[in-house]
Amino acid sequence: MGRLENKVAVITGAASGMGRATAIRFATEGAKVVVADLNSQGGELVVSEIAAAGGSAVFQRTDVTREEDIAAMVDRAMRQYGRLDITYNNAGVLGALGYIEDIKAEDWDRTLAVLARSVFFGIKHSVKPMRKSGGGSIISTSSLAGLHGVPGLPAYTAAKFAVVGLTQTAAAELGKDNIRVNCICPGGIDTPLVAGTFRPDLASRGIPLGRLGTPEDIADLVLFLASDESRWITGTAMVVDGGSNVAMARFEFPQAGAFSGPSFESRKS
Ligand SMILES: NC(=O)c1ccc[n+]([C@@H]2O[C@H](COP(=O)([O-])OP(=O)(O)OC[C@H]3O[C@@H](n4cnc5c(N)ncnc54)[C@H](O)[C@@H]3O)[C@@H](O)[C@H]2O)c1
Repeated sequence: MGRLENKVAVITGAASGMGRATAIRFATEGAKVVVADLNSQGGELVVSEIAAAGGSAVFQRTDVTREEDIAAMVDRAMRQYGRLDITYNNAGVLGALGYIEDIKAEDWDRTLAVLARSVFFGIKHSVKPMRKSGGGSIISTSSLAGLHGVPGLPAYTAAKFAVVGLTQTAAAELGKDNIRVNCICPGGIDTPLVAGTFRPDLASRGIPLGRLGTPEDIADLVLFLASDESRWITGTAMVVDGGSNVAMARFEFPQAGAFSGPSFESRKS
């Protein structure tokens, strides 16, 4: 028996990267999956991969910045599979790049629309069908950039902080309906989103576990949050980053036995 047997999930950004890996993982655990993305070709490919492995999935072309598309995505789950148990708000772009003083208002708005307004829509439209199913689990992708500032990524960072805030508010509102709401904060994951923005060998140096994450590392955490194994967890922002958040591993002080600091002995004299 799979860990998501009899559950129905919608996943945005499911044509690529962590959304794709999660769709495939969910299906192998017995979930029926609505694969939602702007990228129809990539989305259909994921659906065929799931079908070839004996799972069940359908593609729904969705622009997460449009409320009517998110409503249609949820409606597709209800029409196709009759219920909704899991929503994974995950679609993303890096969006506006550059320092605050150089960001254009329209690029700021587009970035926030893809990364934050979409999550508001995803939560909003999941509530009624999940209530009908007796509860559910909503997961959204924030980032380490939802917990720390990142120079050169002001709009992305603001949007990912918004995801954490929205998650906490929604968890507080929806607990009474047995709807759990959590988000995840990945560190650097090797996906097309960041291809070309950093070199994996250099980026790995700052990560205690010694490598960038893979989409499958993320899929396993999202699976846990989607499944009943996390039944008493809501409102969290779970870090999944190989330790990069807590260690300043780039700064190494390798002089074993040495002590750096004021000498108290010398102060006494
Ligand atoms: N890769 C990383 O290092 C990293 C780290 C932390 C957080 N994230 C976040 O993880 C999520 C997934 O990113 P990924 O790394 O798997 O990237 P990815 O580029 O592989 O996948 C993102 C998907 O989102 C889709 N998408 C973009 N805009 C859309 C829109 N308007 N409507 C519908 N779909 C749209 C793309 O078509 C693509 O399939 C994003 O929210 C991203 O911000 C990524």
